[in-house]
Amino acid sequence: MSQTKHILVTGGAGYIGSHTVIELINAGYSPVIADNFRNSHKSAISGISEIAQQEIILRELDVCDLDSFDKVFNEFSFVGIIHFAALKAVGESVERPLDYYRNNVLGLLNCIELAEKHKVRNIVFSSSCTVYGEPKGEKIVNEKTEMGVANAPYGYTKQIGEQMINDVIQSGADLRILNLRYFNPVGAHPSSKIGELPIGKPSNLLPFVTQTGVGIHDALKVFGNDYNTADGTCIRDYVHVMDVASAHVKGIEWLEKQSNSFVEILNIGTGKGTSVLEIIHTFEEVSGKKLNWEFAERREGDIEEIYADVSKAKKLLNWSNERTVKDAVQDAWNWELKLKNG
Ligand code: NAD
Ligand code: WQD
Repeated sequence: MSQTKHILVTGGAGYIGSHTVIELINAGYSPVIADNFRNSHKSAISGISEIAQQEIILRELDVCDLDSFDKVFNEFSFVGIIHFAALKAVGESVERPLDYYRNNVLGLLNCIELAEKHKVRNIVFSSSCTVYGEPKGEKIVNEKTEMGVANAPYGYTKQIGEQMINDVIQSGADLRILNLRYFNPVGAHPSSKIGELPIGKPSNLLPFVTQTGVGIHDALKVFGNDYNTADGTCIRDYVHVMDVASAHVKGIEWLEKQSNSFVEILNIGTGKGTSVLEIIHTFEEVSGKKLNWEFAERREGDIEEIYADVSKAKKLLNWSNERTVKDAVQDAWNWELKLKNG
């Protein structure tokens, strides 16, 4: 009989975590979610359970609380950890920096400390394209592109997280770590049973678009129309959340096969840039609705254009995106309609 392979998924009730739990189950793993629901809803757990047709293992805990976090390591023997748990709202991080440094830096620190203590050698850490800041030259960035100035405390927590991991590996720790730098995860599970559930007014583009589509907001404000891009609006690398999820599964599978200690950084995107106006047009195409939108002032700290060189993820994990931006907008729209209609 094959042995149960438990994976600890901190923040597994959240947006990317919930989709990843599904893909882990599909790949034969047994995920254990550790989440304090600070930025998620219990309904995500029932959604995952419905899709996977099984009970989901959940431990409600704060990863900053070392003692309660330690208990879950005593309870299960993990083959790997995926550490999603963090706060991620850029604007909020400017207002409450200490909250962000405590939660994101201490949470990761505890995670690494307990991984070492319990000899769990495989770790995937959620990093972000935000660590690049505004690209100085090429708009397409690879993992060797120098980190830039973060535009907010949130971005610094990810830079510090990566630095902490580098230092731990440098010190000789017996760990294999993948830092996945996600670009702009969007979309939802095609079943519409789980998706992004922003608490309060969303600051990210796609949830704002779909919420405007169902009438929650009067109009979408497009921040800036005078950028040095083809249509004057900013360009990002939007990647379907199910593709982001599958990158984690491939990441864990790959880590399991390695023997030495290291940290590797991988961009997780599509390699294609899409402008804000292109997202709006795609939304109108898939929904058959006219979106109410208007140009507004530039948003402070916004990056003009950035997208991922994804060749390293392809080479190392044989991972690349399988879904398009249009698929993601369609799934996000179906999810929004499901939320509205129940
Ligand atoms: P999310 O807020 O939906 O999920 C994070 C989950 O972590 C939530 O369920 C929250 O309740 C939980 N959590 C937060 N602090 C915790 C704590 N102290 N203890 C236990 N649970 C805690 O966010 P997401 O979009 O799923 O992002 C997941 C990770 O990916 C984060 O680390 C985020 O910084 C990173 N990331 C996200 C994006 C994005 O655009 N969504 C892009 C790049 C990187
Ligand atoms: C995308 C584009 C906006 C809302 C964020 C985080 C970053 C990382 C990725 C986590 C921009 C425009 C948006 C609106 C708009 N996340 N926009 N009207 O800027 O790439 O960054 O996600 O690590 O840290 O900051 O994503 O979705 O906020 O914006 O015009 O109401 O949409 O100006 O050009 P961004 P976003």
